[in-house]
Amino acid sequence: MDRNLGLDLVRVTEAAALACARWMGRGDKNAADQAAVTAMRRVFDIVDIQGTVVIGEGERDEAPMLYIGEEVGSGKGPEVDIALDPLECTNSVAYGRPNALSVIALAQRGHLLHAPDTYMEKIAVGPKAAGAIDLNRTIEENLEAIAAAKGYDLEDLTTVVLDRPRHEDLILRIRRTGARIHLIPDGDVSAAIATAIDSTGVDVLLGVGGAPEGVLAAAALRCLGGALQGRLILRNDEERGRAKKMGIDDPDRVYTESDLARGDRIVFATTGVTDGDLLPGVHFRAGGAETHSMVMRVQTGTIRTIRTQHAFDHEPHH
Ligand code: FBP
Repeated sequence: MDRNLGLDLVRVTEAAALACARWMGRGDKNAADQAAVTAMRRVFDIVDIQGTVVIGEGERDEAPMLYIGEEVGSGKGPEVDIALDPLECTNSVAYGRPNALSVIALAQRGHLLHAPDTYMEKIAVGPKAAGAIDLNRTIEENLEAIAAAKGYDLEDLTTVVLDRPRHEDLILRIRRTGARIHLIPDGDVSAAIATAIDSTGVDVLLGVGGAPEGVLAAAALRCLGGALQGRLILRNDEERGRAKKMGIDDPDRVYTESDLARGDRIVFATTGVTDGDLLPGVHFRAGGAETHSMVMRVQTGTIRTIRTQHAFDHEPHH
């Protein structure tokens, strides 16, 4: 059953990526996002699931499509929870920067954390260092343990950090250890997944990004055998209230990748929108476009990279 779902989900992320890639560099992140949302919503109807969006575009009153609680899929097939981001990194598309992706994760009903739309402190690594991370230890201790697990000198370890003023202290501390830093303008989902893929050359994602993005990355890392730990950052009463409403009782809890995305029925699909560490973006050609996607499943550990040629003179069959 899940075997076919993965390929159907790729059609959905491909459609969203193709739609929003046209907006690259046009300076309008909302239009790019809207294009991805509309395309994703439309193609979701071909997928044989009874899906409920648990991480999506926002609350029902603020997001007309793919809102939290919306039912998606054909209505036939298994009952599943869906985490999605039709366009992860809206600014990267708007300003022609790297790492934008279209992303979907699927799990059994009740198996994805209903993360509030707040920040999350994260650390993510690939399989070799999966046992070496602990968010309750210091950055320095974590980097040493990761380097040891991978058999590197600390100087050869490449960290990825979102380029934000809030990371000033983190960056100084990483520099003091001697480790290298790849600063990214946006896109910690792509960066977290990249830590689990040798050819990307990045070893560990550190710092604070979106909590929903943490769940998406955790689902992918479950499939890849990597690890992610996250702790919500709730900055005020409004955010604490938002978390409570989502059922979060202990705001200081450290979540592992298996707490964020539970069970063995996870399917994850992503398509590149702009070129990035993980995947090339959409490349337009005369009469069509080429996309690159990844589809993975926890149950089998299969990781597929799919390169697709799309012809624009053919109407999609759905
Ligand atoms: P959006 O697509 O919502 O703009 O997210 C992009 C992103 O860079 C995420 O990858 C990351 O988790 C989050 O924003 C970081 O938030 P902020 O831009 O507020 O630092």
